[in-house]
Amino acid sequence: MSTQIVHTAPPAHLDAHWPVALTPGSLGPFGHPTPVLLCDTSVIAARYAAMQACLPDTAISYAVKCNPAPTVLRSLVALGAGFEIASLFELEMVRSAGGDAGSALYSNTVKPAGHIRDAYQGGVRLFGFDGEGELHKLAANAPGSKVYVRLRVNDNQSLFPLSEKFGTSVDEACRLLLLARDLGLDVYGVTFHVGSQCADATAWPRAIAQCGVLLRLLKRHGIGLEMLDIGGGFPARYCDPVPEFEEIAAGIRAALDRLPHRPPVLVAEPGRFLVAESGVLVATVIGVDDRRDGPWCYLDVGGYNGMMEAVQTGGRWRFPLRTDDPDSSPLVPFTVTGPTCDSSDTMFYGALLPADLAEGQHVYIGSAGAYTTSYASHFNGFPPPRSLFTDGRSDLTEW
Ligand SMILES: Cc1ncc(COP(=O)(O)O)c(C=O)c1O
Repeated sequence: MSTQIVHTAPPAHLDAHWPVALTPGSLGPFGHPTPVLLCDTSVIAARYAAMQACLPDTAISYAVKCNPAPTVLRSLVALGAGFEIASLFELEMVRSAGGDAGSALYSNTVKPAGHIRDAYQGGVRLFGFDGEGELHKLAANAPGSKVYVRLRVNDNQSLFPLSEKFGTSVDEACRLLLLARDLGLDVYGVTFHVGSQCADATAWPRAIAQCGVLLRLLKRHGIGLEMLDIGGGFPARYCDPVPEFEEIAAGIRAALDRLPHRPPVLVAEPGRFLVAESGVLVATVIGVDDRRDGPWCYLDVGGYNGMMEAVQTGGRWRFPLRTDDPDSSPLVPFTVTGPTCDSSDTMFYGALLPADLAEGQHVYIGSAGAYTTSYASHFNGFPPPRSLFTDGRSDLTEW
């Protein structure tokens, strides 16, 4: 089955409350089985172009974990993107999509030794790390490879902080890079991640300044790094305001100009920014009930089969929601939950939906292209959403 997209709706970015190119109104009568993730690859191309325009000297390596659908990866290969991988499995996905192993950044800082060995044999030469144990593993399994150290940076304005688990201090990074040199590895670069969906445009300049301190320290040891990798974290538009990419990029460019010397290779590892707004997750209402605390809506998608990030944030994160007929009755606050027998698949509290919402109707979850299908499991037997794609002109198909 294919859905003909009717292009009558205004471009999505004109509607601050629905930042997604695919609007429910543009889908016509929606007849596909749900849950289904609809993805418009022309949005990915537009976001990629916007990044390139604002950071022209920076290579873009897409974080595969965000949405590894073959169509997404192939679209990014066609745009000339590189890739950031977290495992050998992701390397296989990149290869199958026609991506290049040689330029792939294996940025997961602690990797199974077997994955390092097989990735190295498959042509991967760029490996991130943040501890001594990993350096020994890299020296043994990927001799002579280019290694880059991950700094721990302030991520307190991010919806998904990462510094608890990843990164090290500047002093320790210096010590580790000197050890890497002694182990015969190629001391190549420095990276950081300000946390995903970062709402603070100053986070990147502050982190780059920290890299500058490391560059100075290393210079005293006769080392000049070749690569600065500014990671990901660039926010996509959901319901709450976030800085525009232009503002973030201006801060990054200024911070790069302040470095004691600028490493010749600049890289970013965006995930969410490129793909979130390309996607709409369409779910069906499987039940509506009045409970002690008000109306509850049960969908055929929940925390375990696609909306894990809503659960990770305790339901405090607002995704844009629409229904087939939003004007049918007044909007009232609903608790929106999933289909499983576990209460922790509940996604939203106080979500405004029409009071007459009924079983069988659709709920459209906007900006759902990132970290949805890639997290989805088969808990209770409920399958992850299928994905359908359009390039913005064609009908939605499986591709
Ligand atoms: C090492 C690394 N790079 C890049 C990304 C992508 O981050 P985002 O989707 O916030 O841009 C992640 C996400 O967790 C990551 O772990």
